[in-house]
This record gives sequence, structure tokens and C-alpha cells, in this order.
Amino acid sequence: TLLFSTSLAVIAAQAVSADELREWAEETFKPLPSTIPALANNPVTPEKIDLGKALFFDPRMSASGVFSCNSCHNLATGGDDNMPVSIGHGWQKGPRNSPTVLNAVFNTAQFWDGRAPDLAEQAKGPVQAGVEMANTPDNVLATLNSMPQYQEWFKASFPEEEDPVTFDNFAKAIEAFEATLITPAPFDAWLNGDDNAMNADQLAGLELFMEKGCAACHNGVNLGGNGYYPFGLIEKPGADILPVGDKGRFAVTETVDDEYVFRASPLRNIDQTAPYFHSGLVWDLKVAVQIMGESQLGEDLSDEEADKIVAFLGTLTGTMPQVVYPVLPVETATTPRPTG
Ligand code: HEM
Ligand code: HEM
Repeated sequence: TLLFSTSLAVIAAQAVSADELREWAEETFKPLPSTIPALANNPVTPEKIDLGKALFFDPRMSASGVFSCNSCHNLATGGDDNMPVSIGHGWQKGPRNSPTVLNAVFNTAQFWDGRAPDLAEQAKGPVQAGVEMANTPDNVLATLNSMPQYQEWFKASFPEEEDPVTFDNFAKAIEAFEATLITPAPFDAWLNGDDNAMNADQLAGLELFMEKGCAACHNGVNLGGNGYYPFGLIEKPGADILPVGDKGRFAVTETVDDEYVFRASPLRNIDQTAPYFHSGLVWDLKVAVQIMGESQLGEDLSDEEADKIVAFLGTLTGTMPQVVYPVLPVETATTPRPTG
């Protein structure tokens, strides 16, 4: 998967015309769909989206009553928290940088190490993680059941079910809401045929991104989020960028080959989501691009080349979803009290 086909390499060697560049890009990337994607075993309805939105913003889903999904995936700041690593329950620092939830529905694996197969599976993790929301499924269900409004919303979202307030349905509703968080960008407009959607520098950056080999790992609809590679394929970065303690996918597969293997990051809205890498230790996108050049391609990108690639990456920043802040159901006498 790391090699381009020869025909692409031949195109790369010649001066590329605008039409050839688009053809090449079309083989490598995919524009965002214009509608909400369908989810496996989880029909998306307006009721479910609204319920998922309430759950996403509800800090009472955490043991302390302080942390909601939006604490670390803030939809006002690119769907992440702009911190090196997240702060969660009891002011604890987690081990990794928070990735954006925007367009996450198009990642074929969730998390830096890909350990969750889809967003519904994923959503069950943070609620229970000790350094994130530190809650238990039982306590989440007790909290939801204590508020009649939530019971009604679950009933409306899962009309066929006898007892709809379940942890699975909690996760499915959040998944449905997250499927609406998609951000069409100038790059999509260009891929769809609008020549004016990208300027000359951005197009030159796109050409470099493909020609140098970035697109071998960062491709598809999210320009990443779909494959695993060693961070440091050619040259392992120092511990100031790649701390030795986090061995990535090794923890999932326990295969030596997977030491320091991570998911190639999705790159949509990347200029909104500093700091970079799973360690969150690099604040400047241009520096992150140059690190990638060295570590993944064995290539010293010049300032000019890195600037152009950064200009291209800017075309991946899209129109943010308009999210109306929800009014949440009020607690009752039986709502579990915050702890810790
Ligand atoms: C990862 C959603 C709560 C911090 C993710 C991902 C999603 C997500 C979809 C994977 C994104 C990707 O791989 O590209 C949610 C939802 C939450 C929630 C729905 C509420 C139920 C939180 C909270 C924190 C947090 C409260 C911080 C305290 C993180 C971190 C990762 C992550 C650090 C990366 C973890 C890793 O790769 O090992 N979250 N999140 N999340 N989230 Fe959350
Ligand atoms: C991460 C860009 C080449 C695999 C990243 C990030 C950027 C980026 C900006 C940080 C994403 C974030 O923090 O959210 C580029 C550019 C490249 C390039 C501009 C070409 C110069 C490659 C190649 C591979 C690759 C060729 C695979 C061999 C990865 C991986 C990560 C990543 C595994 C996650 C690293 C981590 O664990 O923190 N890339 N990339 N990249 N890229 Fe690349």
C-alpha cells in the first residue's frame, strides 16, 4: 500500500496539467458526500440526532458532572480541545491528544491506534475511561432514567423497542449525531469540478502532497483515518515528538511489528486542530509537515515546499456544522449526584 502505481509515478515525473491533476486526485481522494452517511445497524432519524446531540453536550454523563463529550471535542474549536493531551476526571491528564469528531464517521477505524471499529463502539469508551468521564454504564442509565424527558426522547428515537434506555442506544444516538458533523471544504468543491475553489499555491501543494508520497497514507475521503503505519517508517522521531511509552497499535495486536504503529491521521480541518500528533507536542502545522517528510518519506521538505503543502491542507478546512446548543432535561430527586 505504500507504493504508487507506475502510471501515477509517470504522471508525477512530467509537468501536470490542471485536468491531469484532478484525474490523479480523483483516483486518490474522495469528496465528502453531500448528505448524512448511512450507518450500519443504526438508521439515522431526526429524533435520534437530537437525542445524540443532547447526550454529546450533557456533562451529567460523567461521574463528576463536569465533562461532556464536548469538553474534549469542542464543536466551537474544530471538534477537539486544542491541548497537547486532554484533561479529564479529577484534572487528570490522558495519554493522548484528542482527535476531532468532525468527519470522524468516515474513518474506518477510530482512535490513534484504531482500536474501535465504529463511532457507536467508540462512544462507550470515554464514558467509562478513568481519566475521561470515569462513569459506569449503570450510572449513566440511572441518570437517564431519572429524567422523564430523556425517557421520552429514547422512546421516540427507538420506537420499536420495549425498553429503549440502554447503553447501546446511548452510543447509537451519539453516533447518529456525530454522522451530521461533516464539513464540506474548498477541496471538495475543486474535486467536484470547481476550478476556482483552489488557488495556484494550493494546487501546487496538492501536487507535492501526491508526488512526494504523503497521499500513499493520507488518502480517501478523510485523507487518512483508514490505514496503519509505523510513525517513523524511515526515521523514528525523537522522544520530544514520539514519547517511547506509547507503542500505539502494539497494545491492540501485541505484535512486535506493530510497535509505534499508528493510524495515518485524517487531515480534514487540520489547520484548526493544533497541537499535532498523538503526543500533541508539535504546535506548528508546517513543522508537523516537515517532520512527516523526514520520518515517513526520508525527505527534507524545503520551506517553500512545506508552505505549499500547508496551503493545500488549508483547503481541507470546511464549513463548520451549525449546531444549536441544546437545552437539556432538568435533574429530578432520583438523579444520581455528582461524585469525585
Ligand atoms: C477519541 C468521541 C468524550 C478525549 C475520540 C474519538 C471519537 C470521540 C469519535 C475518535 C476520533 C478519531 O479516532 O479520529 C467522543 C464522545 C465522547 C467523548 C462521543 C462522549 C461520550 C471524551 C472526553 C475526553 C475525550 C470527555 C477527554 C477527557 C479523547 C481522546 C481521544 C478521543 C484523548 C483519543 C484517544 C486515543 O486515541 O487513544 N473521542 N469522545 N473524549 N477522545 Fe473522545
Ligand atoms: C500524522 C501530514 C506523509 C502516516 C500526520 C499529521 C500530519 C500529516 C499533519 C498530524 C495529524 C494530527 O496531528 O492530527 C503528512 C504530510 C505528509 C505525510 C504532509 C507528506 C509530506 C505520511 C506518510 C505516512 C504517514 C507517507 C505513512 C507511511 C502518518 C501517521 C500519522 C500521521 C501514522 C500519525 C502519527 C502519530 O501517531 O501521531 N501526517 N503526512 N504520513 N501521518 Fe502523515
